[in-house]
Amino acid sequence: MKEDKQKRRHFVKVMVLAVVVMVLGWGSAAMSDAPQTFELDRFIDPDTCAGCHSDIFEQWNNSMHNLSHKDPVYTRVALFLRQGLTDQGEIEEAESCVKCHTPVGNITGFPLKLSDDLSKTPDIATRGIQCDYCHSAVKVKQMYNNGLVLEPGYGEDDPGVKYGPFDDAEPDFHEAAYSALHQSPEICGTCHDVKHVSFGTDLETTYTEWKNSPYNSDDPDERITCQGCHMFQRPGIPATGITERPENPGAAADYSRERPHIFTHYFVGGNSGVPARFGDAEKADMAVARLQHAAQLELDLSFLDKKQLKIVVSNIGAGHSLPTGVGDLRQVWLEVTIQDKSGDRVFETGFMDEKKELPDDTLMFRTVFGDGKGNPVINLAKAREIITDNRIPAKGKAKETITLDRVLEKGSQIQVRLLYRGMPQKILNLLPGEAMDPLPVVEMAKVSHTL
Ligand code: HEC
Ligand code: HEC
Ligand code: HEC
Ligand code: HEC
Ligand code: HEC
Repeated sequence: MKEDKQKRRHFVKVMVLAVVVMVLGWGSAAMSDAPQTFELDRFIDPDTCAGCHSDIFEQWNNSMHNLSHKDPVYTRVALFLRQGLTDQGEIEEAESCVKCHTPVGNITGFPLKLSDDLSKTPDIATRGIQCDYCHSAVKVKQMYNNGLVLEPGYGEDDPGVKYGPFDDAEPDFHEAAYSALHQSPEICGTCHDVKHVSFGTDLETTYTEWKNSPYNSDDPDERITCQGCHMFQRPGIPATGITERPENPGAAADYSRERPHIFTHYFVGGNSGVPARFGDAEKADMAVARLQHAAQLELDLSFLDKKQLKIVVSNIGAGHSLPTGVGDLRQVWLEVTIQDKSGDRVFETGFMDEKKELPDDTLMFRTVFGDGKGNPVINLAKAREIITDNRIPAKGKAKETITLDRVLEKGSQIQVRLLYRGMPQKILNLLPGEAMDPLPVVEMAKVSHTL
């Protein structure tokens, strides 16, 4: 009975396809570049997937992929950036966020732009980057601004093919097929490289940073993809470039057979604040663990007699720059204290004031965007150029020099900490809506030395 129905549906699909192909044949070639659109009911609620994939669901639930639409930091930044724009090119960029942050809504017709009434977003689309979105992907048409091409099924009655890493899965609910795309960093990279839609400025370059890094190696022992770190992490196993990344044996579905490795779905980066706001202490802790296995600090004391302290920061654990992603917002900085032998501070930098703001001379690793005339902008919709980018490349080092006003005497103490925060307090304070609690500051690394 069910098979008959499926065959019939399949026949209808083939006929429809044939007609579409004929129509397209007459039409212009440009039609294939048109954005895909689907009916909303072709996407299956993540709760349905949870019915059989309960572990994977729990991992993904409250991940930044699940929260990409609801994330209060994102929504407020987006509304803030949209305010008061008049330049058409800037407006187009400020409206484009939903393509990645609310992808199921965007591809099914609502929201098409940020200024749509987001409170009307259909429930399933509010669940962010979700199971059926990623597992319906069949190819990538461009390696930036979400170029995923999808072939979803027809809802729960006819869920279609879910693409994944196995070539021998035989689930009863949906069909399954092996997909090389899912094993490739390209499935991540197409959203994790963001270009300004009008000016072409590189706003986020996580994939390109990885592609140009030693982790993108032909040698299978050296090569680590996005999945190789981010889909091996689980509580107690940070899975970065400097830690073990042991396989995660288990079953992909409740009651299905054991396999040597099940890719985890926590998708943890540096964001501990937002999962914590949604009550997920486990994911917050995992983000802290990831940050604490990313960098190394060393002191170079050989120039102290010339009143110079050199600090070397190495990116030993991240497969891309440190920080990556929204490199204009993320703050990774050095906090330095030097005390003489009686305990008096003779030097300090990188300390937050009582408003949680950092002094302008803080040694920080970040991207600064400009308006095209060399003036820094904080609104990425206005970003026409990159003025500076001193983030630390994968397996790279940054050397910073601190100039002192004296030669340090024996007994002096030096302490350096590398700290991480999601964005400057100044920007958080500018955001519309109710005031938000300050974002957590995470200590990534620390080194101290007594002369
Ligand atoms: C951001 C995209 C993305 C999202 C969202 C996502 N997955 Fe996956 N999933 C993947 C990728 C990529 C792999 C395979 C990784 C590889 O082979 O390198 C995978 C693997 C799997 C597998 C095979 C078993 C395993 O984990 O290795 C199952 C089953 C699965 N996902 C189910 C789900 C379910 C259920 C959800 C929602 C709760 C989900 N996925 C959400 C990208 C995603
Ligand atoms: C009725 C149970 C059931 C439901 C509901 C279910 N799955 Fe599955 N799924 C399975 C089983 C069983 C497997 C096979 C596991 C294996 O072979 O190790 C599987 C395998 C997969 C795979 C791996 C496919 C491959 O070839 O690599 C993906 C991806 C997947 N499911 C995604 C989903 C998504 C997305 C949803 C929700 C839209 C979903 N599943 C709902 C039972 C289910
Ligand atoms: C060698 C391990 C490794 C690989 C490979 C890797 N990452 Fe990461 N990733 C990390 C570590 C460690 C961090 C935390 C430090 C940081 O924020 O850069 C991180 C952080 C992130 C963040 C959060 C950045 C922030 O601070 O906001 C994102 C997003 C991310 N990774 C995406 C990716 C994508 C996409 C790929 C593949 C193109 C990838 N990663 C490859 C280790 C890795
Ligand atoms: C449909 C677009 C899309 C795809 C595909 C995608 N991501 Fe993401 N990813 C996002 C967005 C958007 C966010 C940020 C959500 C937020 O912070 O509000 C994000 C967040 C993350 C984070 C957390 C960053 C942090 O600051 O903590 C990690 C880690 C990550 N993605 C890794 C991956 C990996 C690995 C893959 C491939 C298996 C992948 N992503 C595929 C869009 C995508
Ligand atoms: C091409 C996909 C894409 C588009 C379009 C996009 N983003 Fe994102 N966004 C991401 C990814 C990937 C991340 C995760 C990077 C990271 O964690 O640093 C992210 C993270 C963020 C974050 C950090 C959230 C947090 O909790 O710290 C903010 C804020 C943000 N995006 C704002 C925007 C705004 C505003 C727009 C529209 C002007 C936009 N994004 C458009 C992919 C996209």
